[in-house]
Amino acid sequence: MVRVNENYTLLQGSYLFSEVAKRVRMYQEKNPEKKIIRLGIGDVTQPLVPSVVKAFQEGVEEMSKKESFHGYGPEQGYEFLREAIAEVDFRKRGIDISPDEIFISTGAKEDTANFQELFDQKVSVAIPDPVYPVYVDSNVMAGRSGRLKNGRYERFFYLDATLENNFKPEIPKKRFDLIYLCFPNNPTGQVLTRDELKAWVEYAHKYGSILFFDAAYEAFVSDPSLPKSIFEIEGAREVAVEFRSLSKTAGFTGTRCAYTIVPRDVKVYTKKGHAVSLHALWFRRQSTKFNGVSYPVQKAAAAVFTPEGQKEIQEVLAYYKENARIILEAIREIGFPCTGGTHSPYIWFKTPMDSWKFFDYLLERVQIVGTPGIGFGKNGDGFFRLSAFGDRSNVKEAIERLKTIS
Ligand code: MLT
Repeated sequence: MVRVNENYTLLQGSYLFSEVAKRVRMYQEKNPEKKIIRLGIGDVTQPLVPSVVKAFQEGVEEMSKKESFHGYGPEQGYEFLREAIAEVDFRKRGIDISPDEIFISTGAKEDTANFQELFDQKVSVAIPDPVYPVYVDSNVMAGRSGRLKNGRYERFFYLDATLENNFKPEIPKKRFDLIYLCFPNNPTGQVLTRDELKAWVEYAHKYGSILFFDAAYEAFVSDPSLPKSIFEIEGAREVAVEFRSLSKTAGFTGTRCAYTIVPRDVKVYTKKGHAVSLHALWFRRQSTKFNGVSYPVQKAAAAVFTPEGQKEIQEVLAYYKENARIILEAIREIGFPCTGGTHSPYIWFKTPMDSWKFFDYLLERVQIVGTPGIGFGKNGDGFFRLSAFGDRSNVKEAIERLKTIS
């Protein structure tokens, strides 16, 4: 009899987006004639931009010739890509991050899920509610959660994001080791001001905590006074790790390329109190468990950071931002209390019934797929998320259909 990892038995039924996909599949099988509009998972629909495609093709071409063929790449990713990221995302904006603090990977999903491995099983974890489910599930798998009681794990501390606090969790009064933050937020679309983010960095300094900052949606921030990276805040280099991704920024959900910033100044401690560099640990972890992103993908990713690439991705982002504006306007018109949609591709709104009921109701009545808020945590019950990554014509049609339910 082979024993299972008991932690896995503590997980909730199925991963949110798999459950959504299953229900949609079942509905479509029963109703093959119905045209379903998918505004559920945040998956992009517009093609890669021309300069990215060109670099991708060149990368493949190089792989086809003996003289320019590439085998395994450097552990942290190719220097040309890390250098381009350091320049465009950080140096140009006066932020002190060097290429060797950047780790290229296949996704922010895997990095946010894997990073917790570097910490003791007993560390205390504060997680927002609602939240991207990967932060919760990966800590459950690692044995930090305790049991699930009334929709919450007994050993996590939940940072409540509710209509009452405008979906901005309060800074806890006590100490936690690890704190997950995501801004612009998934799922609520809420953003933090520079001062609000500064308060989190000060908290981490005061208590010796580490902040995991998920910036996957930073490209949607349109107001220059709002932070696009936690490293814009003084002192963040000592207390934060940041996850960034090309998925939503440059349409890489199917191509896979992201990057995690681990500053050399973040320290963790052994039982005996010896300081260890978090950067060195992540390097050790990645070089053991990961063999890098393919060369053509890294070449394609580097093209995102050229002046042409930057211009081209802005056009696509503008397209999604306009979708978000259209959806937000319609939800406001219908009269559901809502947030997001301005510096975010997600529109989050209060529903007149519980989340899964509303999911089924929308699917059956108007064939629109969204994401039920409860899938992001207990506070998400009675809320719903729509994504702006659809095709414009589908978004417009969805809005017309939505208006018929009000
Ligand atoms: C979402 O819909 O929340 C995201 O697309 C999921 C992800 O990025 O993994």
